[in-house]
Amino acid sequence: MAKIFAQLRLIAGALALAFVVATAMPATAQQPNSVNPTGAVVKEQQLLDQLKKIEGRGTIPDTKSYVIEHPAGRDWREFRTVTLRWIGGIAILGILAVLIIFYLVRGMVKVESGRSGRNIVRFNMFERFVHWMTATCFIILAISGLNITFGRPLLLPLIGPDAFTAWSDWARLSHHYLSFPFTLGVVLIFLMWIAGNIPNKVDVEWLKRGGGIVGHDHPPAYRFNAGQKAIYWIVVLGGGAVAATGYLLMFPFYGTDIATMESAQVLHATVAMLFIAAMLGHIYIGTIGMEGAFEAMGEGTVDVNWAKEHHSLWLEQEKARVGPNESKRQPMATPAE
Ligand code: HEM
Repeated sequence: MAKIFAQLRLIAGALALAFVVATAMPATAQQPNSVNPTGAVVKEQQLLDQLKKIEGRGTIPDTKSYVIEHPAGRDWREFRTVTLRWIGGIAILGILAVLIIFYLVRGMVKVESGRSGRNIVRFNMFERFVHWMTATCFIILAISGLNITFGRPLLLPLIGPDAFTAWSDWARLSHHYLSFPFTLGVVLIFLMWIAGNIPNKVDVEWLKRGGGIVGHDHPPAYRFNAGQKAIYWIVVLGGGAVAATGYLLMFPFYGTDIATMESAQVLHATVAMLFIAAMLGHIYIGTIGMEGAFEAMGEGTVDVNWAKEHHSLWLEQEKARVGPNESKRQPMATPAE
C-alpha cells in the first residue's frame, strides 16, 4: 500500500512539474527580448488610419489645440514648404525667361505705319485711376505674399533676423490692408470693362493669326483683343479667387475648420503664383513689348495709327460715333462699348 502511495506521489509530482513547465512557456514568450519594438507605432498608425487624427483632452477653450497629430497637416506643410515653392519658382522664373527670350528674338512691336500725330482717347480718368489703384495694390500684395512663401529661405539669410522681422511685419500689414482696395478694384474692373470683354468671332480669327505678335500681321479687333480679354478674365476670376480665399485666411475659423483653412491656403497661394506669372506677361506687353501701349493707360490716349494697327474695328466704331476729324482737336469720349 505504502508503495502504491509512493508511486501516486511520484506521478502527482511529475504532473505538477509538467504543469509548471507548460504554464511557464507563454511567460517566456513575453520576456523583453521578444517584444516587438514597433508595437506602439503600429497602434498609433492604426489610430491615425481610422480616426485621421489623434486628439487629446484639454481645459482651454480652443478645442482645436487638443489635436496632437493630424497627418493631413503634414501633407499641407509639405505643400507649403516644398511644392508651392516649386510651383512659384517655375511659374515666375519660367515666364521671365520666356519674356526675355521673346524680347531678344522679336524686340518691341513698333507702330509700323509710323505715328500719325493724332491721338484718340482710349481710357478716361476714372478707368485709369481704377487700373493704377488695382495694379499698385497687386504689386504690393504680390511682393508681400512672396515674402511669406520665399522670405524665410531667401531673404532671412541675407538681411538677418532683425531686419527680416521688421520688414515682414510691414509686409503682413500691407498684405492685409491693401486687400480691401484691391478687391474694390477687381469689382470695378469687372463692371467697367465687362461689355468689351465678352468673347466673339473676331477673337477666333485674332487667335488663329497669333494676334499678329509674331511677324507683321495686324488682325482686326474691337476695343479689346483676345489677348486682352484673357487678361481681363484672369484678373476677374483670379482676383475673385484670391480675394475669397484670402479673406478666409484673414479671418480664420469663421465658418471654416482646419481642412477648409488648408484648402483655402493651397488655392490662394497657387492661384497667386499663376496670377503673378500672367501679370508679368501683361506688364511686358504694356511697357517694353509694344510701342505706344503704355500711353493708353499713362495719358489715356493712343496714336490713331496705333489704334488702326491693333484695334481697327474699335477705331471704325469711334470714327462713326464722333466723326473722323474730332479726334485731333478734342479727344473722343471713351466708348461705352
Ligand atoms: C483680397 C485680396 C487678398 C487677401 C484678402 C489676401 C489675404 C492673404 C492672407 C490672410 C494670407 C496669409 C498671410 C499671413 O499668414 O499673414 C495671404 C498669403 C499670401 N498671399 Fe494673399 N491676399 C490677397 C491677395 C493676394 C494677391 C493679389 C496675391 C498675389 C498676387 C497674393 C499672394 C499671396 C501669397 C503668395 C501668400 C503666401 C502663401 C504662403 O506661402 O502661405 N495675395 N494672403
